[in-house]
Amino acid sequence: MSPATRTQVAVIGAGPAGLMLAHLLHESGIDAIVIESRSRAYVEGRVRAGVLEHQTATLLEESGLGERMRREGLVHRGIELQFGDERRRIDFEELTGKTVTVYGQQEVVKDLIAARLAAKLDLRFECEVAGIDVDSANRAAVRVRDADGREAAIEADFIAGCDGFHGPSRAAIPPRDITMYDHVFPFAWLGILAQSPPVSEELIYANHERGFALVSMRSRTVSRMYLQCRNDEDPALWPDERIWAELRTRLTAVGASTGIVEGVIFQKGVTPMRSYVCDPMRYGRLYLAGDSAHIVPPTGAKGMNLAIADVRILARAFARYFATGSTERLDGYSQSCLQRIWQAQRFSTYMTRLLHRFETHTPFDRCVQVAEFEHLTSSRAAAANLAASYVGLPYTEDARVVA
Ligand code: FAD
Ligand code: DHB
Repeated sequence: MSPATRTQVAVIGAGPAGLMLAHLLHESGIDAIVIESRSRAYVEGRVRAGVLEHQTATLLEESGLGERMRREGLVHRGIELQFGDERRRIDFEELTGKTVTVYGQQEVVKDLIAARLAAKLDLRFECEVAGIDVDSANRAAVRVRDADGREAAIEADFIAGCDGFHGPSRAAIPPRDITMYDHVFPFAWLGILAQSPPVSEELIYANHERGFALVSMRSRTVSRMYLQCRNDEDPALWPDERIWAELRTRLTAVGASTGIVEGVIFQKGVTPMRSYVCDPMRYGRLYLAGDSAHIVPPTGAKGMNLAIADVRILARAFARYFATGSTERLDGYSQSCLQRIWQAQRFSTYMTRLLHRFETHTPFDRCVQVAEFEHLTSSRAAAANLAASYVGLPYTEDARVVA
C-alpha cells in the first residue's frame, strides 16, 4: 500500500451530494478529495431526477454553475394534476412567486465535474472506498482501491459519506448508534426517456384507474415519462408499443389531446418507491449527506434537492470549523438537515398516496383521493400549500445554529 495522502475532507461519492459539497468547500478554501467507484462516463450518463427547486437553482447560480442551466434548463411556473380524465393546473408562480427548473440530474453532475476538473482539483473515478476508519477521536481515514486493484490510504480531518443508499458510509456506523426509519411502497415506476417533444408545456401528474403516470421532459425534443408498475416489474415485459398505449390511456383528458408524439425510446428502467431516514446523520468524524442518509419516493421530486440542501449546510459547518475551530455548526448539522428531510418525507408521502393506485384501496379510499383532488384545485389555501412544498422550503438553518 502506498503512503497515505492527507486532505481536510475525504468525500465518498461523485453524485450531486459529493460533487456539490466539494465545490462549496473549494469556494471556502477547503481541500477535499472526491472518490468515486464508477467511471466518469457512467456517472454522467446515469438518468435520475429532473426537477430543481427554486433555491437549488439559485444555489447553483450563486456558485457559478448556472451558465448551461440558464441556457438549457426549462423554467416551469406550475404543474397539472389529472384525476381520471379531468386535468387542472396548480400555478406555482401566482401562489408562491417562485418557479422550478427542469434540468436533468446528470446535467448538474456534468457541470460539477467539468468545474472540478477545470480547476484541477482532486476527483478520482473508478476508485472504490473499501474501508472507513472513524474510530479515532482526532483523525479519520479511508482505504481506497483503484481499477487495477492497488490500495491506498487517505487520511482526513473529516469524511463526508455522499455514497448513496448502497454505499459503505452508513454501513460503517454501528447500528446501535443510529435509528433507521423506513417504508417500502407496494409499487414502482417504470421510467423512460424518448426522442419525443414534451406532451405539454408543464409536467402532468395523473391518477388513473390503471395507475399513476407522470410526463416530464429533458428538453424541447426529449421526454421523460413514468408509469406506475409492479414492484418486481421486468422492463423486458414493456415493449415500446405497450408503453405508448399505456401512456395514451392514462393521459386521456377531457378538452385536451394526450399530446403524445411517439419517438424512439432510448432508456428504460424501474425505480422502486421507498422512504428511508437515518438519524443522526453523523458518527464521530463521518457525516452522511444525500441518499446515504435518506431516500424519498420520487413523486415529490425531492431526492436531489434534499442532497443539495444537506451539503449546503455541511459545507457551511466545515467552513466554520476550519475558520474558527468551532464545532457548533457541525454538532447541529444532523438536526438542521432532519427538519427539512422530514418535511420532504411528509410531502413525498402525501403526493405518493394522492396519486397512486394501491391494491388495498376500497371505494372509500378512492373517494377520499378524489375529494383531495377537488380540495386542492378549488381551495387557494390548499393549492398554495402544495405549491410551497413543491417549489421548496426556504433554507432556514442559519437562524437555528448560528454561532
Ligand atoms: P448518488 O447520486 O447515488 O451518488 C452516490 C455516488 O456514490 C454514486 O456515484 C456511487 O457510484 C458512489 N459510490 C457508492 N459506493 C461507493 C464506494 N464504495 N466508493 C466510492 N464511491 C461510491 N429523485 C427524484 O427526485 N426524481 C426522480 O425521478 C428520481 N429518480 C431516481 C431513479 C433512481 C434509479 C435512483 C437510484 C434515484 C432516483 N432519484 C430521483 C433520487 C435522486 O436521484 C437521488 O436523491 C440523488 O441521486 C441523490 O444524490 P447523492 O449524491 O446523495 O447520491
Ligand atoms: C421528474 C421526476 C420526478 O420524480 C418528478 O416528481 C418530476 C419530474 C423527472 O425526472 O423529470
